[in-house]
Amino acid sequence: MREITLILHFLGLGLLVSASVAGILLNRQYKKAEDLKTKALILRASRPIGLLSPVGMVIMLITGIGNMHALGVGILTLGWLSAKLVVFAVAVIGGVVMGIVARKRGALVASMAAGGAGPDAEKQLSSYDSWVMAGYIILPLLLLAILYLSVYGRLGGQ
Ligand code: HEM
Repeated sequence: MREITLILHFLGLGLLVSASVAGILLNRQYKKAEDLKTKALILRASRPIGLLSPVGMVIMLITGIGNMHALGVGILTLGWLSAKLVVFAVAVIGGVVMGIVARKRGALVASMAAGGAGPDAEKQLSSYDSWVMAGYIILPLLLLAILYLSVYGRLGGQ
């Protein structure tokens, strides 16, 4: 049982890393694209990639709880695990915010491409762009912190 939950835990990690890298690359393509129609198309094609992250986070939570059962530990038993759960909670909140902003950006660019956006659209868009950019820096860093804490615990840290 411990093997199965741990293998699924690693698959979830793979999913999160792939989604982050793909998201960063697609966001770069979006930035480079010169016209709004292309930008809108790239954002629309990126949506399923974005949805992989919440799927990955749910997998990590379920399989992580499985790991805890297999090890017979609680939330407060191991320092690294408690710290990891705090960072995980922050990452979930950050991911939800990022998802909301990305969704709004997609809708805005689509309406700009269709010529139906208001006068503030450009300003609003550059604010969304900055939020998404910040997300692509902060969330991978949180993922790295979680990874570090996991490996630290694995190597015998308490
Ligand atoms: C983005 C989220 C997460 C990532 C990237 C992650 C990553 C990892 C990795 C790489 C390991 C294996 C460490 C090793 O064998 O060297 C691990 C182990 C573990 N994780 Fe996570 N994890 C995440 C979320 C969670 C959550 C939410 C929980 C608890 C609810 C959890 C509980 C555990 C436990 C208990 C182990 C030890 C398993 C064992 O040694 O048998 N993880 N995690």
